[in-house]
Amino acid sequence: MSANETDTSGAEATVADAPAENTNRRQPFPRGFLETISDGWADREEAVPQPRAQAPFAAARRSRLSAEFPGRRLVIPAGSQKQRSNDTDYPFRAHSAFSHLTGWGSDAVPDSVLVFEPTSNGHDVTLYLRDRADRTTPEFYADAAVGEFWIGPRPALAAVATDLGIATAHLADVELRPDDLVVDSDAELTRAVSELRLTKDAYEVEQMHLAVAATGRGFDDIVADMPAIIATPRGERAVEGVFHLRARTDGNGVGYDTIAASGPHACYLHWTRNDGPVVPGDLILIDAGVEVDSLYTADITRTLPVSGRFTDIQRRIYETVREAADTAFAAARPGVTFRSIHEAAMGVIARRVADWGLLPVSAEEALDADQGGQHRRYMVHGTSHHLGIDVHDCAQARREMYYDGLLEPGMVFTIEPGLYFQIDDLTVPEEYRGIGVRIEDDILMTDSGPVNLSADIPRTADEIEAWIARATA
Ligand code: GLY
Ligand code: MN
Ligand code: MN
Repeated sequence: MSANETDTSGAEATVADAPAENTNRRQPFPRGFLETISDGWADREEAVPQPRAQAPFAAARRSRLSAEFPGRRLVIPAGSQKQRSNDTDYPFRAHSAFSHLTGWGSDAVPDSVLVFEPTSNGHDVTLYLRDRADRTTPEFYADAAVGEFWIGPRPALAAVATDLGIATAHLADVELRPDDLVVDSDAELTRAVSELRLTKDAYEVEQMHLAVAATGRGFDDIVADMPAIIATPRGERAVEGVFHLRARTDGNGVGYDTIAASGPHACYLHWTRNDGPVVPGDLILIDAGVEVDSLYTADITRTLPVSGRFTDIQRRIYETVREAADTAFAAARPGVTFRSIHEAAMGVIARRVADWGLLPVSAEEALDADQGGQHRRYMVHGTSHHLGIDVHDCAQARREMYYDGLLEPGMVFTIEPGLYFQIDDLTVPEEYRGIGVRIEDDILMTDSGPVNLSADIPRTADEIEAWIARATA
């Protein structure tokens, strides 16, 4: 509950009831304001919509969770606004487990709590949320954090109940008990809600398609804007901004901070400072994903020659990364371990960097699980992670379900090998230094094998050159 929130539900407002406005920049509400502010409003539309498309899917997810915890009371909070500084907050985004189990996405009301109450044959599930405040209450007109006068309308309990297909109750009535299992406090429940997302249902797959399509449009925007981006002193910021515009207009926002890494910055895996120029002759690595309103996100990387044409060494490195990605893709099928995708990609990386004379040992020695790993200097990260409502989805799943688990139809994950030769890495010839390449695609596993959801975004060196030529013709 925020500091300036006032629980006066149902009370008649008077001067004495009004929140103390004793800050150094606000004045108390004069009597005339208080006597008139609650009158003269049209009746509210308390529209009760049809259940949203996600409702039956979220219900099935709740049933699966319920079956894992007979007799236990489960609590899944949406989370609260997080302070950024003073009285400004970060944009609210509900906890991923809460969103997955309710179907409530970017429109979720902060502070809501989902409670599974055990019954003799399962659980009764109730969603507690802050009910609308009557217009006679100070919350309505004086609470800058939650008052509808300030931040806009929120749905009534009955509307949310129909929309999501879940019984609702007022937040004030939520009761927490010492033996509750609470997500992020209880390890078993935290693991369970993560593992529940390892395979995606049909609704989730559709959302992933939408997220990938929007992300593709964002990449098209960047390519089309390349001349202006090059002309901007902090061109990496321009890349970030162009993508952000697309993410906000087509979705809820970005699913993670955009990496716009030009030239040697591409070798810093989490380069989100994005304050460098975009210089013709260099490559720019862009790792970006649109999070759609249901909160599912894409996670896609393309590495582009800023001038529109790869140099020979850039192309050689690029096409090697693509070979690693294609080899990993070919290795992925139902029933093989998740880990084998990485092993397939790393085999290519190790052999190629050995061929180029970059390793102090042979590729076979480098690939030895105990004694090797010399090639990992040039690709230190993993090749794949689960993807969905979180960019690194299912992160609390057990290792035997994740890294050592078997690929199943319905899983969505990335394939994202790279090669990164840092600008000051004396182990590689000078022509390699400062070149970083990653290709990242979003993959859906099906009964008949993997599907590359992001295949329509140009990815071979030739396709990329043609893409840039078309866009800037
Ligand atoms: N963008 C984060 C990742 O690729 O895992
Ligand atoms: Mn990724
Ligand atoms: Mn990524």
